[in-house]
Amino acid sequence: MANESQDSNNENAANDSMPRRIFFKAGVGLVGACYAGAIAYPVYRYLSTPARQSAALAAIKEISLPPEKLPAAGTALQFLFGTRPALLIRHEDGTMVCFDAVCTHLGCTVQFQPKEKHIHCACHGGIYDMNTGKNVSGPPPKPLKQYKVEVAADGQIVISRA
Ligand code: FES
Repeated sequence: MANESQDSNNENAANDSMPRRIFFKAGVGLVGACYAGAIAYPVYRYLSTPARQSAALAAIKEISLPPEKLPAAGTALQFLFGTRPALLIRHEDGTMVCFDAVCTHLGCTVQFQPKEKHIHCACHGGIYDMNTGKNVSGPPPKPLKQYKVEVAADGQIVISRA
């Protein structure tokens, strides 16, 4: 009789501990999932946002610069066309040309050199024509890509892919 009662108590204790065990496992699983999410979400955001942004910026076909960005005659303005550096040159006669400022050799950013009247790449001494963007000296294998430049009626400088 005493043994039967003891067995019954052990059985009840075993039955009681089963839900506790399941509850404990579920709790541990939930906490683990929260930790994993807390770590994974910022990593996902870090990795995905720049990729999405750069894809959107790379798809840009036209940008407008405000009139106050107009470079003085004989000077140039460096700016970003989407994600790429670009170079807007205003010649002495007021005409403007705009080029992708990424050197066609190994991708350094080129600079306008007004005194020498050319576009220069400091990495390996590449030289481009300041009117056409044509590669004239040094290692660059191709001309700079040219953008179209227009000044709108409201003075905005509109630069678009040619
Ligand atoms: S990267 Fe411009 S000359 Fe080499």
